Amino acid sequence: MANPFPMAWLNGAYVPLAEARISPLDRGFLFADGAYEVVPYCRGRPFLLREHLVRLDRSLDALRIPPPLSHAQWAQVLQGLAAHAGASEQLLYVQVTRGAESGRNHLFPVPPVPPTLFAFSSPMPLPSEAVLEQGLAAVTLEDTRWARCDIKSIALLANVLLRQQAQDAGAAEALLVTDGELLEGSSSSVFVVRKGVLATPPNDERILPGTTRDAVLELVRGWLPSEIRRIPAAEFDDCEEVWISSAGRAVLPVTRVNGRPIGSGRPGPLWTRLYALWQQRLDALAATPALN
Ligand code: PDD
Repeated sequence: MANPFPMAWLNGAYVPLAEARISPLDRGFLFADGAYEVVPYCRGRPFLLREHLVRLDRSLDALRIPPPLSHAQWAQVLQGLAAHAGASEQLLYVQVTRGAESGRNHLFPVPPVPPTLFAFSSPMPLPSEAVLEQGLAAVTLEDTRWARCDIKSIALLANVLLRQQAQDAGAAEALLVTDGELLEGSSSSVFVVRKGVLATPPNDERILPGTTRDAVLELVRGWLPSEIRRIPAAEFDDCEEVWISSAGRAVLPVTRVNGRPIGSGRPGPLWTRLYALWQQRLDALAATPALN
């Protein structure tokens, strides 16, 4: 299906997405040598933009790619892209690679080559009524990714294979487990509510520090106790609610794991309350400055 938002931004210029071209010698193509971000654009404003740009800088620093643009410059690029698309709800994608060389060499280019910068926008995938009423199914899978999952690297092959395996099993997400410990989804953070307390795993090199997850933790403050702790996957047998969160899915209820119901098998009351607060949080965005 063609992307309904036809403009992209490539290396400093807005170009029709269908005409955007990079070299096949780009290190992103040859080595997955780059990092990315997915920034939600809601109610006509970028949401959690600063947090996403801080994480982009952190990923690039880990890859030893100097930050190519300031936050103000990125904000302008994204605002321009969103304006071209013209929709109030969008998903903005940003990618930086180490650039294109004249050949293939594992070592960083000397002298360095200009990085390749790319951004485009696509429609925000809003959840269907069925998902809001019934929740999502997930399966647990052994985490087969690399040892630096805290970097938002464009090397996503393991994530792709795990997500497809979940889809083939009739599930919307793969919840990744290592040594019996629940870590995160193939493209989402994970929460468990057990004995009335919300829990999510600690940030370390095994998971991406989720921006949406942090916003959820902020929104529950004062009405739902929360903790950051290691979560045995066995807790799925004995918990009231499971949620996943990401820039593209916001926060959604998981009501079946490995074919077994979570709690009542329907979205739980805590998620329902959180989701209403989430919508209010987004509505409040409309009153904030555009480049927030
Ligand atoms: N993925 N963990 C993984 C492995 C992810 O890929 C993502 C997001 C998250 C949630 O992070 P955030 O809340 O900052 O979006 C956690 C994006 C959306 C993607 O790859 O499309």
